[in-house]
Amino acid sequence: MSAAPAVDLSVQIGALRLRSPVLAASGTFGYGLEFAHLVNLEKLGGFVTKGLSREPMEGAPAPRLSVTASGMLNAVGLQNVGVRAFVQDKLPKLRDCQTAVIANVFGYTIEDYVEVLRTLEDADGLAGYELNISCPNVKCGGLQFGSDPSLVADVVGAARKAATRRPLWVKLSPLVTDIGIIAKAAQDAGADALTVANTYPAMSVDYRAGKSRLGNQTGGLSGPAIKPITLRLVWEAAKAVCIPILGLGGIETVSDVFEYVAVGATAVQVGTASFADPQASETLVDGVRKAISDVKMFSFNEIRANFLSQSG
Ligand SMILES: Cc1cc2nc3c(=O)[nH]c(=O)nc-3n(C[C@H](O)[C@H](O)[C@H](O)COP(=O)(O)O)c2cc1C
Repeated sequence: MSAAPAVDLSVQIGALRLRSPVLAASGTFGYGLEFAHLVNLEKLGGFVTKGLSREPMEGAPAPRLSVTASGMLNAVGLQNVGVRAFVQDKLPKLRDCQTAVIANVFGYTIEDYVEVLRTLEDADGLAGYELNISCPNVKCGGLQFGSDPSLVADVVGAARKAATRRPLWVKLSPLVTDIGIIAKAAQDAGADALTVANTYPAMSVDYRAGKSRLGNQTGGLSGPAIKPITLRLVWEAAKAVCIPILGLGGIETVSDVFEYVAVGATAVQVGTASFADPQASETLVDGVRKAISDVKMFSFNEIRANFLSQSG
């Protein structure tokens, strides 16, 4: 009996070829090292590091996580070791791992973003950058970079100039009136791909104790609760741009992956699901491979074309 033909799961994100369409999302996979003994990293399309800032950050006061109906709230406060310690202490240990390492970058001013990227540009071992633009711009009275198209153009344009060595993905905030306008602004300023989307600002309170369940008062909602809202954002963004989109928000099952593909994602990221099961992303790669080889009509292009022909 001849062996089943190998399924090619690779996807093209701009200039970057990823081995599979499933990546682990920023903030839910540490610096990758924490998961290396639990997950076969080679199976993943890659992983995105915890957000990296110019200087180390201690993050928000505890409690930082709170479970909600079909989701989770977090207010980690972007705790991280800082970009220099990442390059010196973490990155060398990731050199042998056969997967794309994407560095997630954030800042509170454009100079912060540029400085982090400059430090990363001098380092080896990365496949690309993901710019988190859901941060408040301290020079604009705390207005999120990602909520204003001209700020998006400014920060992405400056990042593009600083990041000449590697692909630049821009991770959009869901807190926008029209994601198409924001997506287009990022594309026109030089983004190679978009990640849609980050968590949704939210809150959970314990009225008996008379306080928020998070030390930071508010946090970001993630998990299955946000999937339908984020699916729509991917759908709207995909109509506005021609660069690839990585969809993320509440992905737990193979069907979730295909739903994101149907509305326009080229690849997906898995976040909160890794908290319940650290191997969630690897299991999804196996599931996608099985679904594609079992049901022969399933290729990503066919799923998308089928959806567009009915709903486009
Ligand atoms: C605990 C936690 C920390 C996160 N930290 C970051 C971060 O540092 N940078 C970032 O861009 N997104 C961060 N995110 C957002 C996730 O990458 C993802 O966009 C979001 O959780 C939605 O996907 P999910 O529903 O699969 O979790 C974080 C999410 C969680 C739950």
